[in-house]
Amino acid sequence: MVNFFIKTYGCQANVADSQAISNYLQNLGCCRVEKEKHADLILINTCAIREKAEQKVFSYIGELAEFKVNKKYLQVGVIGCIASYRKKEILNRFDNVRFVFGAKEDLYKLQSLLHDIILKIETIKSLSSREQNLLIKRKSLTGSQIADDKKILHLGGFKNHTKEVKQSFINIMTGCNNYCSYCIVPFTRGRESSYSLDEILDRVKRDVELGAKDITLLGQNVNSYKDPQSNANFSKLLEKVAQIKGDFWVKFVSPHPKDMTKDVLEIMAQYSDKLCSYIHHPLQSGSNKILQAMNRTYTVEKYLEQIDWIRELLPNATISTDIIIGFPGETEIDYQKTVDVLESVKFDNVYSFIYSPRKYTKAALFKDKCPIDVKLERLKKLQQRQVDICKEQNNRYVGKIIKCLVEKRLTNGKLLARTEGNIRVLISGNDDKINKFVQVKIENAGAVNLIGSIIV
Ligand code: SAH
Ligand code: SF4
Ligand code: F3S
Repeated sequence: MVNFFIKTYGCQANVADSQAISNYLQNLGCCRVEKEKHADLILINTCAIREKAEQKVFSYIGELAEFKVNKKYLQVGVIGCIASYRKKEILNRFDNVRFVFGAKEDLYKLQSLLHDIILKIETIKSLSSREQNLLIKRKSLTGSQIADDKKILHLGGFKNHTKEVKQSFINIMTGCNNYCSYCIVPFTRGRESSYSLDEILDRVKRDVELGAKDITLLGQNVNSYKDPQSNANFSKLLEKVAQIKGDFWVKFVSPHPKDMTKDVLEIMAQYSDKLCSYIHHPLQSGSNKILQAMNRTYTVEKYLEQIDWIRELLPNATISTDIIIGFPGETEIDYQKTVDVLESVKFDNVYSFIYSPRKYTKAALFKDKCPIDVKLERLKKLQQRQVDICKEQNNRYVGKIIKCLVEKRLTNGKLLARTEGNIRVLISGNDDKINKFVQVKIENAGAVNLIGSIIV
């Protein structure tokens, strides 16, 4: 039997891909292990979004060399977004890497590549131990099985862990055409393309039947979805997903403000039992000058109008956002405008990052005179202020009874659950509550966690 280990960096698109690959390898009879030292095959699913993310991956690949010493047949593969554009460099720099496969390449090819690698590992292992696993596996893999698995790979995977919530990550589209001037994703994931509505609905049904409670629809611009056959848009897709019978809820990331329409919010309000009242609405900057330089194609005024739509149609919605600090040309005044938006919207969560120049992108050529210390100070101040806003926002739940989904047991002994708005809730209870919806009375709130007790 071949043991494999997958390390996943980056966004949920990578989580979905890793999960799909893991499901595929398990279908082939391989065993997923939790530690590198037990693996015969190590896959590293990489992220290129900021330089720091890349550095982390490179130092990790370097560390893996020690495992190769005792296990000559160990195969290390680098996949995902860095693999899309630094293939040669990775192969030249790291002796221990056997293959590099980019995020925009056809996953079907990765599948046959992995299949060959598994056979190779099994051959070598069986030569020493005289096991015949290889032959059994080779015979059992039929053409139809591969065709079926093709679907599993491109739509993403299903996390079916016995002691955790059963989560399904479903890619409804791939790639991005927006070319925000700072962003490498169009270069690592390729052009935007939507998957078939029927295929997506089949996947949701299948995963719900398998016990999935938490479904996330994924795309770099999830709300620009268009079914290639019928032209059905994102709100139609949400409606159809919400009409599927079963006990589950659905979230989606990431929508782009340029594609936000009221019909999506109306469908969310109409099917509030299934569609979580949670919107990730990435702002990036509160200054129109910077938004324009970023090629975001909306203004702050438009963005704020959309926040009003959300508040009007989904009054209890949780809203989160992404902010980039220190984009080239950002002055103290531009920065202050971003803080002003945070003050007026009062997001429930803000993911903020210092701008990182990326190869191939337009902004990498922009003049940037702002010293890093100033950027770090801006980020620190913004994050400190946001901690207080999060606390304030979370306080509105104290005393209320809210529906939560129990995810897993934490090392501190508490159960971790989440609200439909993706807010963490710590509760006490038995393991049989995991992967169940419960009603929780919220007793206390901090910036990161709510604390409560299960009442049903
Ligand atoms: N498609 C999604 C997000 C993709 S990347 C969207 O448009 O919202 C996730 C976040 O990383 C972005 O929203 C942005 O805030 C941040 N990001 C992307 N490129 C970056 C860069 N070069 N430097 C710093 N942050 C970046
Ligand atoms: Fe990157 Fe912009 Fe595409 Fe998001 S929309 S992935 S930020 S280019
Ligand atoms: Fe990173 Fe690629 Fe996602 S660059 S953020 S893993 S699309």
